[in-house]
Amino acid sequence: MSYGHANPVPMTSRRSRSLAGNPAIPGDKSISHRSLIFGGLATGETRISGLLEGEDVLNSGKAMQALGAGVAKSGEEWIVTGTGNGLLLAPQSDLDFGNSGTGCRLFMGLLGTYDFESTFIGDPSLSKRPMGRVLDPLKLFGTQVVSQAEGGRLPVTIRGPQFAAPVSYRVPMPSAQVKSAVLLAGLNAPGITTVIEPVMTRDHTEKMLAGFGAALEVETDADGVRHIRLEGQGKLTGQIIQVPSDPSSAAFPMVAALIVPDSDVTLKNVLMNPTRTGLITTLIEMGGNIEISNRRESGGEDIADLRIRSSDLKGVTVPGDRSASMIDEYPVLAVAASFANGETVMEDVGELRVKESDRLAAVARGLEANGVDCEEGEDWLKVRGRPDGKGLGGAGFDGVPAVSTHLDHRIAMSFLVMGMASENPVMVDDTNAIATSFPEFVGLMRGLGAELE
Ligand code: S3P
Repeated sequence: MSYGHANPVPMTSRRSRSLAGNPAIPGDKSISHRSLIFGGLATGETRISGLLEGEDVLNSGKAMQALGAGVAKSGEEWIVTGTGNGLLLAPQSDLDFGNSGTGCRLFMGLLGTYDFESTFIGDPSLSKRPMGRVLDPLKLFGTQVVSQAEGGRLPVTIRGPQFAAPVSYRVPMPSAQVKSAVLLAGLNAPGITTVIEPVMTRDHTEKMLAGFGAALEVETDADGVRHIRLEGQGKLTGQIIQVPSDPSSAAFPMVAALIVPDSDVTLKNVLMNPTRTGLITTLIEMGGNIEISNRRESGGEDIADLRIRSSDLKGVTVPGDRSASMIDEYPVLAVAASFANGETVMEDVGELRVKESDRLAAVARGLEANGVDCEEGEDWLKVRGRPDGKGLGGAGFDGVPAVSTHLDHRIAMSFLVMGMASENPVMVDDTNAIATSFPEFVGLMRGLGAELE
């Protein structure tokens, strides 16, 4: 099944001689969404610097405005004036989350305990993604699903109950979005809402809610299962937030610097929250020369500077229990693996099938189109690399179709990175989606020396 942007913008990436520089990586997407949502809900003003100005986050800003919050840019800062917890207004029109699963699912949770109707819509990619994983726990609060497309897909209309009941919910898949949706619904329900999380996922919601003043506690039991308890209907207070650089965006210049010979790239102020650093761990295991310095804390999060130099990589097995901490980084890891000596095995990555595209399939098809030896299982991927990139590339040339990006920003950026080190150029069919998370990507990579046209 294929679908795409109305006006696709293809792009070709050619082998680069070397990459060098010290570019600023934009703000973390997960923290940016949450800064706008919690700021919009809090009492008083939240001032955000370093907000990611990608389409996904801007759509969350617009949704927050539609619910009564003030969201405006002033100089370099974004100022959010909150409504106060429990005081959101009914939206006057459909809420459009574009390409963003995070925006859509977090707002479903947020509005799931409000006694009014809200309708959620999105682009063709988001409209294919499962929303049942959020609607199911919301029903336990008393939320009514007024309408939905087949299989719990968008457009979805929900209505919260008059009197919500708090819930205790064990998240059945490793998903920070589902965890966060339940906690957000719990913010407007009386009593204690509990989320039980067997596999730890990014913990920005927990950390940031506590930072905004919510009564929230996390306990990890003897089996490593996390129990997150939130007291609903408490007061949230506006905060000053500095958003660190997004490790999921840093991943692209990072892998590019490792695989393009004679490269030396420094990326500063990168978020190093352990729930997000699986790719760095893996690349170092593969022999990647990544120097981590200046580790420090900023606004409750670990950050550091990274210096990355070209490296001879070797294949590794990435254990399944690491997948949650690098879930968005598998496409670009598959590209690194294409240039590694030996086989890389990625285990337990079934969640990739429900991202902006079926990323397991999109990556496997893209690798095949570029001559990479790979094997795709239901929830795993194996890639056998060619260290010098010899014979790799070629999608979009000599009768081979360009890489199909399926409106998926990370598929587009990953294969552009591949073309920077493969013998033959790589063409991707559309780069529009890159603006959802990393609008600066093309300019930034060209600034390092990449040949993108
Ligand atoms: C996100 C959670 C992850 C991740 C997404 C951002 C978040 O999704 O893939 O890019 O900010 O909560 P899942 O919760 O579906 O794993």
